[in-house]
Order: sequence, then structure tokens, then C-alpha cells
Amino acid sequence: TVGGTREAIDPVRFISNHSSGKMGFAVAEAAASRGASVTVVAGATTVEPPANVNVIRAMSASEMHAAVKTELSSATIFVGAAAVADYAPANAANAKIKKDGRDVMTLELKKTPDILAEVSKNRHNGLLVVGFAAETNDVIGYARSKMEKKGLDLVVANDITKDGAGFNTDTNIATILTRSGGEIELPLMSKRELADKILDEVVKLRAVE
Ligand code: CTP
Repeated sequence: TVGGTREAIDPVRFISNHSSGKMGFAVAEAAASRGASVTVVAGATTVEPPANVNVIRAMSASEMHAAVKTELSSATIFVGAAAVADYAPANAANAKIKKDGRDVMTLELKKTPDILAEVSKNRHNGLLVVGFAAETNDVIGYARSKMEKKGLDLVVANDITKDGAGFNTDTNIATILTRSGGEIELPLMSKRELADKILDEVVKLRAVE
């Protein structure tokens, strides 16, 4: 999964985030260039997808979840790189909401499906599941707890407050955590280079499967 999701408030407005899709597309491109057959389920992105990958657009968390479920059976590796909204408006309005007479507006939000956790929980034999953890504090601690809670094989953790890391940059600074307790701390590098480092670890995990 790649990019940010858009959760409708009404037909003209949505809740979303700063995801560009650059990190996820970099992983897709790196995998395709190694000969993998790649399907990307992409939400909102600000950059073009790489060539040689199959792109399915799914804008909301629930659309993305449905598309992932359709595609998953043929997959051997799932990489959840999307910034999926954790909450969506509980009842999107069918018509444009008007502001007349309202000084205060309250939106009720409900939890979206956790695509990564669902994929991991319902995984078929041999599927490897990779997640991302974008954090501002206690990066490794939160990333490790995500790995345990969601039963992941690899987590790519990054501190989005660091210069050169995070949303919409072409570079990233990450630590790759493995399920056996490994911590690979990587320096600043392009997202494309990081994509190859992630795939190198995936290949190592496959070798011990
Ligand atoms: N993810 C997902 N579906 C969601 C939420 C997150 O697939 N509804 C995936 C992301 O693609 C990413 C990882 O889960 O790989 C991020 O983990 P998460 O704990 O959900 O991070 P946050 O959404 O940042 O949550 P929190 O605010 O609790 O840190």
C-alpha cells in the first residue's frame, strides 16, 4: 500500500495527511527492478508511480482494505507503506455541508480498519508482512510494539522530526527492525536506496523461512 487515504466528510471535503507516496513507490520500483511482479494499492499520491508495476487506486481506508483483500491471495510479500487514516467521519454527508448559522462544527470519527494488522492476522502460508512506523518520539519503542501487536516480520521505523526524513522528502533516515530482535540503523539515504535495504532484509528472511 502506498500514499495517504482520503476520508470523506461530504462530497467536497475530506480528511487526509501529508503522505506523498514516495517511499512506497520506491519499494515498488526496487522490487520490480529485481524481477518481482508488483501490485501497488495506492491512495492519494503527489508523484507518478514507477513503470512496470500494476497500480490500483483506492482512496479511502475501507476502499484500500477491500482492494488489498482482493489482491492478497497471489502475494508473497505485503509491504504496508500507506499512511492510512486511523479515523474517518462516522457518517459522511451525502450533500455539501453548509456553514450557515454554525459557529462550531463537531465531526464524529470512527476507527478505520487496520489493513496491515488484518493482513498479518489472516495471512496465508509463507506471506511476509512488512510495516512502517513514522514516529516523533520513542521511535524504536513504538516501532517494536507495533511489530508485536500486529505480528510483523519487519518494521521500518523513522523519526519524522529529523531533517531529511519523513513526508514528501526524497530521502529518509530509518531503522529496520526484524522479528528476531535485529536493529539495522541506517544513515540518511534516498528513499530508493532505503527501498533496496528493506528488500535485502526481506530476502534474508525468506532464506530462513
Ligand atoms: N496501517 C494500516 N491501516 C491502518 C493504519 C495503519 O495498514 N488503518 C499501517 C501503515 O501502512 C503502516 C503501519 O500500519 O505500515 C503504521 O502503524 P500504526 O500503529 O497504525 O501507525 P499510526 O497510524 O501512526 O498509529 P499511531 O498513531 O497509533 O502511532
